[in-house]
Amino acid sequence: MTLFTPPCAPRESAEAAALLLEQARALLAGERDALANSANLAALIFQTLPGLNWAGFYWLRGNELVLGPFQGKPACVRIPIGKGVCGTAAERRATVIVPNVHEFPGHIACDSASESEIVVPVIKAGRLLGVLDLDSPRLGRFSREDAATLEAVVTHFVEASDL
Ligand code: SME
Repeated sequence: MTLFTPPCAPRESAEAAALLLEQARALLAGERDALANSANLAALIFQTLPGLNWAGFYWLRGNELVLGPFQGKPACVRIPIGKGVCGTAAERRATVIVPNVHEFPGHIACDSASESEIVVPVIKAGRLLGVLDLDSPRLGRFSREDAATLEAVVTHFVEASDL
């Protein structure tokens, strides 16, 4: 389920998103360590998708999300399930696209530059493991196409890593 109907992807973003899955497959080939793979994926996403100021993972620890590998400014370490965009995506086990974070009730601001955000849950065999979170300084940066690509990247990460 996607919340807040986003706009269509601009061409530049669509091309970068299409490349991302291909590059993610190549990057994770031959390595199953989840920490190494999630760290490399955060870097790949941050370098590949235009218009990001933060990209990374939060992992489920008890009833909260704890900061994992990321690129961008230092971020809040713990997010309770159900709080913020990350905690909402985790609770709903669904991708959440927020075109304007200032209009999202309970948004947790880690970087004041962030204007829009997408969070994709990381789920293995029905078990929530964490979330992938991307922030952008552009309003409405994330499209449904971005969501589909990032969901495919996360699915591949789960299959390609020991979790
Ligand atoms: N904005 C997120 C918090 C994490 S930072 O964006 C890295 C949220 O509302 O859950």
